[in-house]
Amino acid sequence: MKPESERSNEGRIKKAVEERYAAIARGDVKTCCDTSNSCSGELYNIGTMARGYDQAQLATIPEGANLGLGCGDPTADADLQPGQTVLDLGSGAGVDCFLAARRVGPEGRVIGVDMTDAMLEKARANARSGGFSNVEFRKGEIEKLPVESGTVDRIISNCVINLAPDKRPVFAEAYRVLKTGGAFTVSDIVSFGLVPESVRADLNLWAGCTAGAMDKEDYLGVIRQAGFSHISIIKEVVYDYLRGADFGFASVTVRAVK
Ligand SMILES: C[S@@+](CC[C@H](N)C(=O)[O-])C[C@H]1O[C@@H](n2cnc3c(N)ncnc32)[C@H](O)[C@@H]1O
Repeated sequence: MKPESERSNEGRIKKAVEERYAAIARGDVKTCCDTSNSCSGELYNIGTMARGYDQAQLATIPEGANLGLGCGDPTADADLQPGQTVLDLGSGAGVDCFLAARRVGPEGRVIGVDMTDAMLEKARANARSGGFSNVEFRKGEIEKLPVESGTVDRIISNCVINLAPDKRPVFAEAYRVLKTGGAFTVSDIVSFGLVPESVRADLNLWAGCTAGAMDKEDYLGVIRQAGFSHISIIKEVVYDYLRGADFGFASVTVRAVK
């Protein structure tokens, strides 16, 4: 078991993340890190970059599903086929779940998991308004998925895993729930270089998707250790303007197979 100090630090981070995304779901703040919460500047707005959605596809899902919180378009590269079961880690208001549902069709199903009640309410309302009967939203943590082992064909996730204080259980759980031969496609923020401790310790920056961004090579190492193979970076956008003298952040879309 982890030491008490580590568990309590992880608890503080999770609480800050949940409060921020509940506030976004309620419409109290507009972005991952609102300036009214005393954080401003480009470091805080990383989650709004590099989304790259196809506008024609976005037009086929409820407008309120896309809160502009992603950092990629994982469904585009997830090789989704009709009839598949798809799991979205940290589904927010449901944008990627609904895009995935269009691809897997009525024979397929999509499960979104999120820990924030207000997000789940929003996502479920979007599913109702859009008539998505094959999309289900479950409350839960991506470190302990409320999903049966070996039941999922594809996992997607968009700008969420960086928010988990410990990435190891997230990828271990992804491995557990995937069928053999199943794959994940995850868009996320990673770091490179020596990110200052002042950034790593800032709870606003945790909620804003930068403080928890893991070193890219370490991130790939955690995926490998979880048991995945065929690990590849499909897309990478380095945020030049977010660079410190010896550190920086990038959005990556990573694919791997069980
Ligand atoms: C940056 S938003 C991204 C939402 C969605 N993927 C999108 O692209 O719009 C992060 C979401 O992940 C959820 N989240 C963060 N950490 C989580 C965790 N450990 N377990 C479950 N959900 C989590 C938050 O509640 C929030 O809805």
